Amino acid sequence: MMTNLRDCRVLVTSTSYGMNDPSLRSELENLVGEVIYNPSEHPLTTAELAPLVKGIDGMIAGLDEISAEVIDSADRLKVIARYGVGLDRVDLAAAKRRGIVVTYTPGANAVSVAELAVGLMLALGRNLITADRLTKTGGWPRLKGRSLSGKTIGLIGLGAIGSHVVGMLRGFNCRIIGYDPALSREQAAALGVEWLERDDVIQQSDFLSLHLPDNAATENMFNHETLGLMKRGAYLINTARSELIEESALIEYLQSGHIAGAALDTFRHEPPGKDHPALQFDQVIATPHTGSHTDEATNRMGRMALNDCLAVLRGETPQYRVV
Ligand code: DGY
Repeated sequence: MMTNLRDCRVLVTSTSYGMNDPSLRSELENLVGEVIYNPSEHPLTTAELAPLVKGIDGMIAGLDEISAEVIDSADRLKVIARYGVGLDRVDLAAAKRRGIVVTYTPGANAVSVAELAVGLMLALGRNLITADRLTKTGGWPRLKGRSLSGKTIGLIGLGAIGSHVVGMLRGFNCRIIGYDPALSREQAAALGVEWLERDDVIQQSDFLSLHLPDNAATENMFNHETLGLMKRGAYLINTARSELIEESALIEYLQSGHIAGAALDTFRHEPPGKDHPALQFDQVIATPHTGSHTDEATNRMGRMALNDCLAVLRGETPQYRVV
């Protein structure tokens, strides 16, 4: 059904929408009747979001908890344009039941997340965060680094992001192994990856990087048993979703030194707060779900989400519809 955009109210909950290109905000503000922005600096919980969606026609959504309760509180909502690729925090069944269109931005942030994963491998192997802290406080530490050259890098998940990581690692003179149930050995080989069974990848990697979505099959995939398969002294990088890792098992293996270090860009509750147990280790690098926060990715995600949000409000077909 066609609506006059001037009669529409759009809620933008993504906190990085228009971060690098303010024209994305002004364009939206000039076209629709009213734009309401996330009043906080973090993704919204159900309790925070449910009151905000009342009277809203369209939403450009970040990593907020868009539960059935939120969707049921929305009395005019026609579209949830997810600014990003993960759909794990949107109750798609509830949206479908209410006839609300959900769109997303596939591929828009893949390079950006892949760059962060490679950066974190280097930062872990070379103790960059510790080196920076100690040097700035007057120290001159001789830190034992580990290079990527000659090491085995394992990737779990070889989709858009995993494949970019492979391309970026080509110049590092390392062995790249990977597992993805959706890819054959031949397809992986064409990409430049040696396809192995999942547990073999976990066992053989010096750096293990996760690139899977969060769903029923992947939740807690990296638990006491599977993390225990990692090489002693290996590093774990997670720029995907925290739900892939059983937190208590990770803490235990960091404590024992079995896992030499971990880089975590996602947390079950964001922000995790300074008392989060994983943040107590020097050998853990924590970043604020920053995988897509580059000029290129935020501009692309913003453009795709804006176009699809407006398309649905205008009664047109969006380009990247999920339900
Ligand atoms: C995604 O695309 O889901 C990223 O986590 C950022 O939103």
